Amino acid sequence: MTDAIDYARYDRIRPIRWTGEALELLDQRKLPFATEYVTCTDSDAVAAAVHALAVRGAPAIGIAAAWGTVLAARDIEADDAAQAAERLEPALQRLNAARPTAVNLAWALARMRAALFRAQADEGSDWRAALEAEARAIETEDLAANHAMGVLGASLIEAGSGVLTHCNTGSLATAGFGTALGVIRAGVAQGRIERVFAGETRPWNQGARLTVWELQEDGIDATLIADAAASHLMKGGGVQWVVVGADRICANGDVANKIGTYQLAIAARHHGVRFMVVAPSSTVDMDTASGDLIEIEERDPAELLATGGSRTVADGVQAWNPVFDVTPAVLVDAIVTEKGIVERPDIASMQALFGR
Ligand code: MRU
Repeated sequence: MTDAIDYARYDRIRPIRWTGEALELLDQRKLPFATEYVTCTDSDAVAAAVHALAVRGAPAIGIAAAWGTVLAARDIEADDAAQAAERLEPALQRLNAARPTAVNLAWALARMRAALFRAQADEGSDWRAALEAEARAIETEDLAANHAMGVLGASLIEAGSGVLTHCNTGSLATAGFGTALGVIRAGVAQGRIERVFAGETRPWNQGARLTVWELQEDGIDATLIADAAASHLMKGGGVQWVVVGADRICANGDVANKIGTYQLAIAARHHGVRFMVVAPSSTVDMDTASGDLIEIEERDPAELLATGGSRTVADGVQAWNPVFDVTPAVLVDAIVTEKGIVERPDIASMQALFGR
């Protein structure tokens, strides 16, 4: 077993490209069969792309919103950073409203506001340049966090293990390498993980369309399962860990993530399979006390009524489409962040690592 990880091998997909003039977003609705970019030249186009899931994954939408702020700054006139902050606020509010559950969006916008605030204090400073530097820093720091979490999370996994993941938490969902998928990449590279399973993640099929494709690009063998096959897989001893990402982690350790995560955690506990959540500290929301207080995004029920563009459900049938759920902290064995690992999270252990 070696600890060395060849990041270049695993870091070939970039969902977000800043050209200096525009933001190019790899259109994740079209993957894996078409590689097309949505070009955004203003912040409302970024908000629309986030809402429509052209770009998705908690860290990625935060990074996109940061660059959206840079675009918004081009469309306003302001004498100084204070005036810019006031005039940018409506665009920031529209970016923030694009999706409600992942806290990374609000976190990134708060960082952009703080960068403007610092520019106010520095008379004569170039506040547009300050915003661009902050967006770049958010992106660079996310990649570094993923590299750190990959090694930390993999250290918990014994050699010869099988893992199950859900949704897509890879390069496509982040600045690169991924969160839960970063742990899986590191665990495979280090010879700890022998079997990788990914659930389809209905209705958007992030697991089927994105995760197994990313792993295939890396040359990592992965097996796709129907979401409904997870308990059967665990019962047969095929996996020792479930490794997932997060959209928001509360002060008590409750975790919001893609719908279906909660039932995986229940099944894992029942079968003695351990449950790991991997997310950068930008996903930790110490201002939200528990998962009951998180707004869960509900999307158009029409997303459930068709598969691959073909209607699969009789006309007139009703559907309900919540796209995230909350796993209570008591079902989580470890939360892995770039700041460290919280085992069996609760209010005290979360506060010990993240403060208030
Ligand atoms: O609706 P999505 O595809 O944006 O949901 C993504 C997830 O739930 C991911 O697990 C989460 O954002 C973590 S991505 C590193």
